Amino acid sequence: MRKIAIYGKGGIGKSTTTSNLSAALALKGYKVMQVGCDPKSDSTKNLMKGMRIPTVLEQLKEKGEALELKDIVFEGFGGILCVEAGGPTPGIGCAGRGII
Ligand SMILES: Nc1ncnc2c1ncn2[C@@H]1O[C@H](COP(=O)(O)OP(=O)(O)O)[C@@H](O)[C@H]1O
Ligand SMILES: [Mg+2]
Repeated sequence: MRKIAIYGKGGIGKSTTTSNLSAALALKGYKVMQVGCDPKSDSTKNLMKGMRIPTVLEQLKEKGEALELKDIVFEGFGGILCVEAGGPTPGIGCAGRGII
């Protein structure tokens, strides 16, 4: 398994680059999982027909112990498994909370 991390300042094109990279790898036949770690939780939007998926933190808050994989992992373009960690409102609080 290879893990690729893409990071940088807001608005530089991380989500756009990442989702295109995921799509290209999936079309090459790789099994791909994309995990968004930005509190904006929009990195997988391009792979989910523009739909925003519920985040791990949101689902954990709502379902607690009853949380299942299907609540946080969604299949998008080319069978790519999409997850968004979630986090506090952008610019407020610690974004690391979602990642942890
Ligand atoms: N290579 C590019 N050329 C022009 N616009 C781009 C490019 N990559 C991203 N964008 C645009 O820039 C904006 C921010 O991109 P986004 O991928 O959401 O950034 P980030 O995830 O780093 O915050 C979006 O409106 C996106 O469409
Ligand atoms: Mg982004």
